[in-house]
Amino acid sequence: MPTETKIEEVKMPDAKSGNIPLIWIHDMTWGYDESKKILFKKFNFNLKKWDFTVITGKSWTGKSTLVKFLIGQIKPYKKTLYYKMEDMSEFGDDEIQRYRRKIGIIFQDYQLINSLTPKQNIIYPLVLDSMPLTTIKKKYDAVNNLLDISSIETTEIKKLSGWEKQKVAMARALIHAPDFIIADEPTGNLDHENTLQIADILIKANQIGNTIVLVTHDEMLLNYLKKHVDVKTVTLWK
Ligand SMILES: Nc1ncnc2c1ncn2[C@@H]1O[C@H](COP(=O)(O)OP(=O)(O)O)[C@@H](O)[C@H]1O
Ligand SMILES: [Mg+2]
Repeated sequence: MPTETKIEEVKMPDAKSGNIPLIWIHDMTWGYDESKKILFKKFNFNLKKWDFTVITGKSWTGKSTLVKFLIGQIKPYKKTLYYKMEDMSEFGDDEIQRYRRKIGIIFQDYQLINSLTPKQNIIYPLVLDSMPLTTIKKKYDAVNNLLDISSIETTEIKKLSGWEKQKVAMARALIHAPDFIIADEPTGNLDHENTLQIADILIKANQIGNTIVLVTHDEMLLNYLKKHVDVKTVTLWK
């Protein structure tokens, strides 16, 4: 059975209104070449600044595939996926790289660099951008304020717990004030208590103006979020 979504169909956003979505997916029908199965059938998705969107659904419904579209890892068909109303099917490699630097990506397995300290991991994207050290310090202090990482900032990565590693990954994603952060099952390796701690950080990050896309199949987490923040839920179905 093809995937359908409950989200209501959206009209072409009006670029002149100034309220254009960060991401707009319009009637996207798509499947992996190898499987010959349609994964998305006339799928619609709309992400606006300050949204807290949760993408949920059972295993194999296409959540991670959708993430791959949203981080520019799968090239969409023409006129189906837009970033600020720019057709992402037309992005070349350089534009994809530039796009990725504007978003913050968080994975289930953290993807930290073991040879660097937590602090070095967090500021790494800014150093790559040749940002002045005083600016880097200010931005680091701001994420430290939100995530409280100073006590572990020089601990070896391999000595950190899963929850601490995920905090470092979240700080790295948030530090450059991305257009949105996208997290694919960030609590997948964490226990109940740590899951709620991640939820609290995401809630706080959203309250201070960050746009969040969270992928999870964890209903407990979704229910917790719904109690604390105005969540937009997108459910994928088989
Ligand atoms: N690289 C790939 N090539 C072919 N099929 C894939 C690939 N990645 C995922 N799939 C298939 O697409 C479907 C959705 O997978 P995925 O997006 O990982 O779902 P979820 O994250 O919801 O568990 C599954 O049936 C999976 O087997
Ligand atoms: Mg997945």
